[in-house]
Amino acid sequence: MRLNKYISHAGAASRRKADELTLAGKVRINGKVMSEPGYDVAEGDVVEVDGKIIEPVSEMIYILLNKPRGYVTTTSDDRGRRTVMELITDIPERIYPVGRLDYNTTGLLIMTNDGELANRLMHPSHEVTKTYSAMVTGNLSKDSLWKLRNGVDIGGFVTSPAEVNIIKEHPHHHEVEITIHEGKNRQVRKMFEAVGCNVRELKRISMGNIYLSRLAEGHYRKLTKKEIEYLRNI
Ligand code: URA
Repeated sequence: MRLNKYISHAGAASRRKADELTLAGKVRINGKVMSEPGYDVAEGDVVEVDGKIIEPVSEMIYILLNKPRGYVTTTSDDRGRRTVMELITDIPERIYPVGRLDYNTTGLLIMTNDGELANRLMHPSHEVTKTYSAMVTGNLSKDSLWKLRNGVDIGGFVTSPAEVNIIKEHPHHHEVEITIHEGKNRQVRKMFEAVGCNVRELKRISMGNIYLSRLAEGHYRKLTKKEIEYLRNI
C-alpha cells in the first residue's frame, strides 16, 4: 500500500498532509527516514510519523450505532462517564466515532477504523446533511421557523439555511424535524435556544442517504456495501 494511503487510513493525516510530512523528513520506515511519498509499504514495515508508530489498519470496519442517552462519543472520558465504545462488544478492531453526538442526544452514529473516510466526512467542505428529530418546547412561531430556516446566530456563527418541519403539535411541545449542513458543537440545541425554544429530546435519524430506521437503541449494524460506497463518494 502506498505510504500516504497507509498513513491516512490509520487516521494520522490526510493523504496530502502525509506527502508533506514525508517530504519534510518526518516519516520513518523501520527506523530510517523515508522521503519518497511513492514508497510502497510492505507487510512488516514499521511506519513512524513524527516519532509515533502508525499501526496498520487491516480490515475496514463501518458500523452504524443507535446511540442511547447517557453516553459520550469519545473513546475515553476523564469524568468517568460511559462511552459509546462500551456498546461495541464483538468488533476486535479499534474503531472510533465519526463526529460527535451530545451526551443526551440519541440516534445515528457512524463508527469506523477508516481514518481517511472519517476525516473527510468531518471536514467542513464535505459536511454531509444531518437530520434530527427534536422534541421542542416554547413558542415556535412562524417568525421563529423563518429564522431557523434562513440562519440564526448561535454565538459568533450564523447557521446556513436549514430545513425545518413541524411533524406534530402537542399542547406543550412540538415534534420537529430539522436538517442541517454543518456540525457545530450543540448546533441544533443552540439554534432553538436562539429563537427562545428548548430542545428536550434530540435524535439523529439520518446522515445523507444513511438512515437509522428501526435499529433499537444501543444496537448496531454494519453498513452495507452500498452505504460505504455512498460515503466514499461524498
Ligand atoms: N446538535 C446538537 O445540539 N446536539 C447533537 O448531539 C447534535 C447536533
